[in-house]
Amino acid sequence: MSFENEIRRTNHRKKKPNTFLIAGYAAVLVLCVVVMFALGAFGKDDKPSSSAVASSEQSSFISMTETSSSESTTSSKVSTTSSKSPTPSTTSSAVTSAYVPNGDWKLIIANKQHPMPESYKINLSYVSGNYRLDSRIADAYKSMISAAKQDGISLKIISGFRTFSGQKTLFNNKVNYYINRGYSRQKATELAAEYVAPPGTSDHLTGLAVDLISPDWYSYNSNLNSDFENTKQFEWLYNNCAEYGFILRYPKGKTSITGYAYEPWHYRYVGVDAAKDIMSRKICLEEYVAQMQ
Ligand code: DAL
Ligand code: ZN
Repeated sequence: MSFENEIRRTNHRKKKPNTFLIAGYAAVLVLCVVVMFALGAFGKDDKPSSSAVASSEQSSFISMTETSSSESTTSSKVSTTSSKSPTPSTTSSAVTSAYVPNGDWKLIIANKQHPMPESYKINLSYVSGNYRLDSRIADAYKSMISAAKQDGISLKIISGFRTFSGQKTLFNNKVNYYINRGYSRQKATELAAEYVAPPGTSDHLTGLAVDLISPDWYSYNSNLNSDFENTKQFEWLYNNCAEYGFILRYPKGKTSITGYAYEPWHYRYVGVDAAKDIMSRKICLEEYVAQMQ
């Protein structure tokens, strides 16, 4: 073979594509893409892709009609604990006992540090339409509504006891609301948790919580927001709820302790003595419980 021919052959060899190598590269590339999709690397920007409405749909979580009749209302209780420093839990499925400070059922706490066990059972009574509360507070609730009426204040209940599954639905709806507006699942979950309690952490699971508004609120408002504090209904509730054993559960300025935004419509039964103490000192339930220990 001449020198030129040898050069030509060598060049030809160099240019000839190595099909095995290319096939290998292609396989690795395809594998990478598949793995990236599986890990959710695409389309997961924390920023909304379109104009997002961050807080315009608070009403979605309080307009649930609680009609579940399959929920057990037996009186068999799960174990409770009066431990002074309960171990914080984050997954409700792992929770086996409710946090009941000093063993006093009226002071039971359901929040992000102390989720309720899914097996928690209470006796429930219908207090208005399909709305139910713990039977032990039905009379106190009705007395409060009657007293308000006598003072010319009409109150409309929009949420009472919530089932675990109902709360899960509310929370998932809120997460999806944010996802549909372009947030990543993680960010949507964070945003949802500002207003709607993640499963296991809602005060409504206790059967001791009630959301009350003015009957005409939604004639003038598209959502439930802190402007409710400017109504005569709020004024009456704020000044009188303790007489009937109720407190403002999520007061203004206590978000870092309660874990939830100010909710002037959410009232919680704790008993008359505790309610008077809590309301007169303008503290939240978590602070009251911490101070009594
Ligand atoms: N809105 C309150 C925090 C709840 O969902 O229980
Ligand atoms: Zn509420």
